[in-house]
Order: sequence, then structure tokens, then C-alpha cells
Amino acid sequence: MAREHKTYVFIYLPGGTAAVPAGLFTHYPDDGIGRFAYGNRYLERPNALPVDPVSLPLGGTPRDVATNGGLYGAFRDSSPDYWGRLVFAAEARMPPEAMNEVDYLLRANASRIGCLDFRASLDQGEPVSGPPGFQSLAGLLDAASDLAAGKQVRHDLLRLLEQGSSVGGARPKCTVELDETLWIAKFPAKDDTVNFPMVEYATMTLARICGISVPAVRIVTVGGRDVLLVKRFDRQKARSGYQRFGFLSALSLMEWDERDRAQWSYPVLADRMRATILAQRAQTVELFRRMLFNVLCRNTDDHPRNHGFLWGKRATALSPAYDIVPTLARSGVTTEFALSMSLGDQGREASLANALSMHARFGLTRSAAELLIDDMRKCVGQWERHFTACGVSEANREALRASFAIS
Ligand SMILES: Nc1ncnc2c1ncn2[C@@H]1O[C@H](COP(=O)(O)OP(=O)(O)OP(=O)(O)O)[C@@H](O)[C@H]1O
Ligand SMILES: [Mg+2]
Repeated sequence: MAREHKTYVFIYLPGGTAAVPAGLFTHYPDDGIGRFAYGNRYLERPNALPVDPVSLPLGGTPRDVATNGGLYGAFRDSSPDYWGRLVFAAEARMPPEAMNEVDYLLRANASRIGCLDFRASLDQGEPVSGPPGFQSLAGLLDAASDLAAGKQVRHDLLRLLEQGSSVGGARPKCTVELDETLWIAKFPAKDDTVNFPMVEYATMTLARICGISVPAVRIVTVGGRDVLLVKRFDRQKARSGYQRFGFLSALSLMEWDERDRAQWSYPVLADRMRATILAQRAQTVELFRRMLFNVLCRNTDDHPRNHGFLWGKRATALSPAYDIVPTLARSGVTTEFALSMSLGDQGREASLANALSMHARFGLTRSAAELLIDDMRKCVGQWERHFTACGVSEANREALRASFAIS
């Protein structure tokens, strides 16, 4: 008989800091299919929200999901990725691949992204775990580097790391609390050839100077190691805890599959934004800006889980930008490169001409798009002065020069 794993799906509704049950999710790992059904009592709530506004609207008959191994987009976005899975599997003393999707959904704790929660039973209470405090960072860094090196990690440190490791992504990280605010702390990784936390800090603040909406970021140095703190945009402190806002990656908004790169496209994403939930032109112009910036700083890791949307509290809108980091290029080898998503009529080719080619899809006339490109190019052209002011070393700037060659 085919295996099935079940979990109750809870949601934090706007204004609340305790979740309410919304329905039951059944995952069939052998077929890579998932099935969700809303609970009747949830549907009777006047303030009910969909648990996934794209693939599970209220009022319809929920469809089974077969993309991304049988996870609805919003569920996938609230589950850990490579890094979190490594942590949870270490805690469970199992190899990461021996755990199933529902195990990961159930283990991911209060630090998960967005406004959903997954529980083994209806009467299971709120996740008790608090996020690690900022003063724990030194221990968290040690635990993360031991884990990445395949060493045994002290159990108390592993527990602490686990409290904040439900967020997605591949790099080592942990949610921490500082000044009554939650931050994603992004750590150095063992194979880094440059100081990536510092480089990401400099790139994100450069993006802000270039007019892109970026969360608050800080660099902190812990025992000689630089750590990037990125303020979480899906949480806000309230008197009784943290309020949570819904999050959907572009992958989920588009119902794309993680393995189907050929579909990923900025103009197609812009079409969906215009046609459905994001009627405002400013939104597609912001997407255009982010696409240009990725070309100009050679951020080739701009896959559709690195673009996101916030929903639930206000109208759905692009989240602040995140995970913008130049990919290192070897100077003199080639100046041509590709982004992860298609930009224009030359597909994924990372050139400004290609970015310009489908300007109308982003709500821009040709001359408006040309002006924007000109502005962005000038703005990113100051990168080296800005990176120096941020404290990026001469050796690191040298390593990055070829990544900014297009500007
Ligand atoms: N400021 C933020 N607030 C809330 N959620 C965020 C924020 N920044 C990132 N996220 C979420 O956390 C996930 C991981 O963050 P990020 O992309 O920075 O990590 P990463 O390890 O560098 O990712 P990748 O695997 O793409 O290299 C994102 O996919 C997004 O869902
Ligand atoms: Mg990412």
C-alpha cells in the first residue's frame, strides 16, 4: 500500500499571535503528490484566509499538487531547505534523505517563514521554542561550522541552532532575536573564498541606494567572524508575541517546479503580477529594477525562490528584496553569463539589451526603461567606493571586479 503522511495545517490570522487549525494535509511520497482539505469550522470563520492564496483559494475544491514533490507552494516556502534539513536531520540523528517532507514540516518550528504552522495533532499547542538571543551567536556559529564540517555538534548548541533554522536557503543561518526584532543571521560558510556576509551587506545596501526596497541589514562581528543580520519582513513584534505575515516565493506564485528551469522568466512573472494580485505598475517596475541590478552585479542565483511576496495583512505585494550577492567571475575568461530566469528575447542572457527587450511587459515604455537602465548603471557604477566604505577588503574587491564588469 502506498505510504501517506499527514499533518494539520495551522495559520496565524492577521492580528493574532496564536495559530488556528485550517485543514489537513496528506502527502503521498511514493507518488510525489499532496492533498489538502480545509476544515469546515475554519471555512465558517468570517476572517478565514487561504493557506495558499494561489493553489488553495477558499471556496474552491482543492486540487492535488504534483509539483515540487507534492508540496503546495506556501507549504514548500515554510519548510526548511538544504541548511535547515542538515540541522534537523542531525538533531534527529538521521541522514537528511531518510526524513520525509512531512517530518520536515513538523520539525520546522516557530522560526519558519510565513504565517503557517504544521502540527501532528489538533490539540498540539503553540511551538514553545523561543528564537535564540543575539548573545548566543558565538555558540551558533561554532555549531554551524562543526555541522558543515561533518563533526559532532554539542547537543545543547544543536538544540539552540535548531530553534532558528527553519528558514529556507542553502547557506548556514539562524534566526536570532535582537532589540525585540527577529533577524536572519547569515554566517560565513566553509568554502567561502571572499567574506560573503560582508559582500552581501555591501550589495544589499548598494541595491537600496539604487532604489530597490531592501530590509534593514547589519554586520556584526562575533569572535572575528562577520555575520550578516537581515531583518525579517514576515514578523512584527506584538504584545503577546510575534505577528506573522504570509509569504509566497515567486516559484509558488507561478506554481513553477523547482526542477523546471526552462519556465522561469521575469516577463512571465510580471504578466502574472499584472494580471492577478498586483495591479500596481510600481510593482512590475520594482521587479524590472531588481532584474537590472542582478545583471549589473552578476547575481546569477536569482532563482524564483529568491523573489518573494507578502500577503494576508495588506494587498499582496513584492516583499523587500533578499539574497542579492554577486557571483564570482574569473576576470578575462568570459564576460558573458546567464541569470537563473529568462529576461527577454535572448532568454537568460544577462545583458542590458536583453533586459530592455521586453520593457512593455513590466509596464515601461522603451524610453522610460532606457532611462531606468541608465540610472541603474550609474548607480551600480559606484560599487567600489560603496564597498570600500562598507569595509570590504581590497583583496575581496579585486575578486569582485569582474562581477561588476558590465557596469
Ligand atoms: N528578510 C527576510 N525576512 C523573511 N524571510 C526571508 C528574509 N530573507 C530571506 N527570507 C526567506 O529565507 C529564505 C532563505 O534566505 P536566503 O535566500 O537569504 O538564504 P540563502 O541560503 O542565501 O539562499 P540560497 O539557497 O538561495 O543561496 C528565502 O528563500 C526566503 O524564503
Ligand atoms: Mg536564497
